[in-house]
Amino acid sequence: MKGLPDYAGRTAIVTGASTGIGAELARQLARRGMRVALVARREAELEQVAAGIRAAGGDAIVVPCDVGERASVERAAEGTLGRLGRIDLLVNNAGYNTHGLFKDHPVDDIERMFRVNVLGQVWWIKAVLPAMRRRGEGWIVNLSSVAGKLGQPDEAVYASTKFAISGLSESLAYEFDPLGIHVLCVHPAVVRTEMFTPEVLARMPEVAKRAFIEPDVFCAAVLRALERGDYEVTVPRHVGFSYVFRLLVPGMFRRATARMRLPVLPDLTT
Ligand SMILES: NC(=O)c1ccc[n+]([C@@H]2O[C@H](COP(=O)([O-])OP(=O)(O)OC[C@H]3O[C@@H](n4cnc5c(N)ncnc54)[C@H](OP(=O)(O)O)[C@@H]3O)[C@@H](O)[C@H]2O)c1
Repeated sequence: MKGLPDYAGRTAIVTGASTGIGAELARQLARRGMRVALVARREAELEQVAAGIRAAGGDAIVVPCDVGERASVERAAEGTLGRLGRIDLLVNNAGYNTHGLFKDHPVDDIERMFRVNVLGQVWWIKAVLPAMRRRGEGWIVNLSSVAGKLGQPDEAVYASTKFAISGLSESLAYEFDPLGIHVLCVHPAVVRTEMFTPEVLARMPEVAKRAFIEPDVFCAAVLRALERGDYEVTVPRHVGFSYVFRLLVPGMFRRATARMRLPVLPDLTT
């Protein structure tokens, strides 16, 4: 168990930093004294986040990159490590979700989702690992999801990508501990971000829509977990009880999930 002891003078790479959780995590890390590299595809949005960080007295650099393309990640990582000079923290946050039934999910997007949500994290870890190993120290935060613990209708492929991230993170935590590199896996429930478009919201049950938390509250909880040296965290924490519920009474859990999620899907049998 190895928590991040301090932030000042250290560096972080945050993927998916143009909006939502990534942008807010980058702001909170910069406020604590870290120099942050902001990674995503939309350069104008990244510049805006960077300008806000600099205006608040922080330090940020912008790194345009498509994490779903290996060559793009490798190019971006090389340039970023050169500019930062050292790397203490990698936050693998970039990802996307589109609610919809598996039968209607185009195969091209299924492939793309695996490239962005899974391989994007794998490639970034591979790219920073040699530098972290040389220093014998580093922290990696991987964004999974509650859907990376519990299968969800209408999010079959997304849940599969996040199960992959949960498995990758848990396994790497064992392998990397002896190298001085700590891996934290984060399981958000529902955080209010651009991911929840009107189309996505229309396919969510009312009870889930009432559970949204704000990105600043969510990110503060992630940083507390990082400082504590946790290996995984579910935010909000009480959602973690559903994992136990699923384990102890799987039939009841399945019926409750079906009752909650299926009635809002008009295209279930069409
Ligand atoms: N919000 C939630 O409730 C929730 C719940 C569970 C898990 N999560 C996870 O948390 C992470 C952040 O999600 P969010 O809610 O903050 O969503 P968001 O506001 O939509 O942000 C997603 C970020 O990922 C970036 N991104 C997407 N595809 C990319 C690509 N191919 N290359 C580079 N960057 C890419 C986007 O930037 P560009 O479009 O500029 O590239 C954006 O910065 C995701 O991994 C998501 O699965 C979120």
